Amino acid sequence: MKRRDVMRWMGIGTLASAAGRLPFGSGAPVLAQSRPSAARPSFVPDVELALRAGPGEARILPGAATQVWRFTGELLKGPPETLHVVPDSYLGPTLRLRKGQKVRIRFSNALPESTIVHWHGLDMPEAMDGHPRLVIGPGKEFIYEFEVVNRAGTYWYHPHPHERTATQVYRGMAGLLLIADEEERALSLPSGAEEIVCVLQDRRFDARNQLTYLAGGMMDQMRGFLGDRVLVNGQERPSLALATRAYRLRLLNGSNARIYKLVWSDGTAMTMIGSDGGLLQRPLQRTAVTLAPGQRAEVLLDLTGRAVGASLELRSAPYPAATVDAAAMGMGRGRGMMGGMVQGAVPNGAPLSIFTIRVARREASTFRLPSRLSTFDASWEKTPIGPPRRVTLSFQSGQWLLNGRTFDMMDVAPEETVAAGSTQIWELVNLPGMMGMQMAHPIHLHGPQFRVLSRQHTAGADADAAIVREGIADEGWTDTVLVMPGETVRILVTFTRHPGLYLYHCHILEHEDMGMMRNFRVTGAAGA
Ligand code: C2O
Ligand code: CU
Ligand code: CU
Repeated sequence: MKRRDVMRWMGIGTLASAAGRLPFGSGAPVLAQSRPSAARPSFVPDVELALRAGPGEARILPGAATQVWRFTGELLKGPPETLHVVPDSYLGPTLRLRKGQKVRIRFSNALPESTIVHWHGLDMPEAMDGHPRLVIGPGKEFIYEFEVVNRAGTYWYHPHPHERTATQVYRGMAGLLLIADEEERALSLPSGAEEIVCVLQDRRFDARNQLTYLAGGMMDQMRGFLGDRVLVNGQERPSLALATRAYRLRLLNGSNARIYKLVWSDGTAMTMIGSDGGLLQRPLQRTAVTLAPGQRAEVLLDLTGRAVGASLELRSAPYPAATVDAAAMGMGRGRGMMGGMVQGAVPNGAPLSIFTIRVARREASTFRLPSRLSTFDASWEKTPIGPPRRVTLSFQSGQWLLNGRTFDMMDVAPEETVAAGSTQIWELVNLPGMMGMQMAHPIHLHGPQFRVLSRQHTAGADADAAIVREGIADEGWTDTVLVMPGETVRILVTFTRHPGLYLYHCHILEHEDMGMMRNFRVTGAAGA
């Protein structure tokens, strides 16, 4: 791969317009009450984008092109680096925003069904958060206007229509949203050609190179859909020619249900520098980084001193499938049983090659990773209000549930009401369900990033789970936390200051669509 190709692959260096002009003003959104149906003249954006969801084609496998659904975008106003088209990919454009920017996004729906966009990890006013009740129909437009308040980090966007999120994401609808700020800039982390973005997604194809989905029926839904190949930015097992210098990798697990345990093939430590919510206080040296669906990690890879010609692979290391897919459908705690039950699927925990790096040339590099990355952590320990709120994750009557409840568009239970800007401890308890049905669930909360306080697990039967847990880092800010079977995870959450209806759910997208999702209502005035 030539340097130019590498840059293309990373989505750097190609600007703007895959979309062409968009049909604006094609109608008012449904449920117009609380939402702007038109741009507000009083809102003066620093950045304005057109984003369109529609059918398209992508070259993924050799031979026929694959029909996909995808986001395309166009920069209407703002710095040219704001929008990067990811080349040779179905992924939506990578959006690069800065903290403090005011952003307007004119989103138009050219799909044959309803959709809405959610900005995963961002603290948003209610009307901008992409709640499924805000979906817009085919041919309609939705205008997002918001200020970027999050700190620097690797975030992403994807659709959020109820019962259709998994399908739409699977067909290709997702993109990265990278935020920069002053604290991060001062570190001079590797950037440009030294910054590599990797969106990991597993897929299955038929003989004509078309995506297949839920071929395993019920079982695929209960467990979450697993593909048989992993794509990186929409390409299978790409190879990267790099230099003898330091690289910043931004990794997103954009898969519907697969959990990766990422390692370097030669045993090099994973130097983790960031999590879902941005930079860690200090770099962490891990043997592995476990990434559940929805989660991100930033890793520094220093190739200084490597021999030209050497190669290195990013892999997902093996772990016992039963630790995350345990005891499903009355089959007992059979190891890997679930994987075997769906034809063609590669089970969770199967060893996978993600991409290969080849050291292609010598280049001098003076980059030194600072021992202190961020001071943002200093303020996180706040006093929670009231006793911990218990949220059980369970399986009953053929459904994945939160506190025994399924999703209902507008329903909020009394204990799902929280005061704006308040802090609580939520205790996520992963219980064994009917016939022992129990799985690992990545639980995601909309709104500001939170912290993981503790993990407790039932003693015994633990040695296998430890293989997955080894890669879980709870040191940073996060918006999605993996709760292993039998585990109780305590998180400390400070809720958004914006009042309104927000979501928490499992980020195994089939679970989310099946109703393992609930609203919570934030009460009180903004800024109060
Ligand atoms: Cu990334 Cu509510 O989802
Ligand atoms: Cu989210
Ligand atoms: Cu789940």
